[in-house]
Amino acid sequence: MAENEVLNCIMHRRSIRRFEDRQLEENQLQQILEAGLYAPSAGGRQGVIFAVSQNKEVNEKLGRIKRANSHYRMATAGNYISKEQPSIADDASITNAFYDAPTVITIFVPKDFLFAKEDCAAAAENMMLAADSLGIGSCYLGEGYNAFADQYGQEILHKWNVRTDYYAVAQLLLGYARPQDAHPTPKVRKENRIIRA
Ligand SMILES: Cc1cc2nc3c(=O)[nH]c(=O)nc-3n(C[C@H](O)[C@H](O)[C@H](O)COP(=O)(O)O)c2cc1C
Repeated sequence: MAENEVLNCIMHRRSIRRFEDRQLEENQLQQILEAGLYAPSAGGRQGVIFAVSQNKEVNEKLGRIKRANSHYRMATAGNYISKEQPSIADDASITNAFYDAPTVITIFVPKDFLFAKEDCAAAAENMMLAADSLGIGSCYLGEGYNAFADQYGQEILHKWNVRTDYYAVAQLLLGYARPQDAHPTPKVRKENRIIRA
C-alpha cells in the first residue's frame, strides 16, 4: 500500500459490474459529482454536462438499448475483459449494458469541441476515484450515445432537455459493490510501456 490516500485509490479502483440493490447515499453522490465538476477541462471551458439517472425503469431500458447497439468482438478463452465480473463482451447473456447499476450518469459534451472526449474522460476518472474513496463501485462505459439509439432513447434526451449540439460520450455506473465483488483482481500490467527518453 502506498502512503498516500490518492495513490491508494488509484491502485484500489477497479471496474465494478455487480452491484447491490440499494441506492447511493445522496451526500456521497453529491461529492462524486463535485469531483467531476472540479476536473480539468481544455481551456477551462467546463463544457461537460452530467445527467444523473436513478430511475430504475429508464436505466433498464437505456441499458438494453445500449446492449443491443454494442457491436464488438466477443471475448475468447484467452482474451477477455473480466473473468470475475464479466462485461457484455465476456457474456452474451447479459441483456443490460448498465449491469443494473442503481445510478447511471451519462456524460454529455459539445459535438463540435476538439477536446470533448478528453474532458469527459478526465471528469469520469475524477469521479471514479472519488467513488472508490467513498467505498462506492464504478464502471466507465464508452460510446455513451448508443444508449439513446432508438426512439425511446431520443425521447429521453428530449425529456432531459439535452441540447441538440451535445452528445453522450460515456456512462459512468455507480453503486455499492456486493462485499464478495468489491475488489476484482487487476490484470497484470504489460511490460515496456514506459520510455525513459
Ligand atoms: C474508454 C473506455 C470504455 C469502456 N467501455 C466499457 C464498456 O462498454 N463496458 C464495460 O463493461 N466496461 C467498459 N470499460 C471498463 C474497462 O473494461 C476496464 O476499465 C478494464 O477492463 C480494466 O479494468 P479495471 O477498470 O478494473 O482496471 C471501459 C473503459 C474505458 C476506459
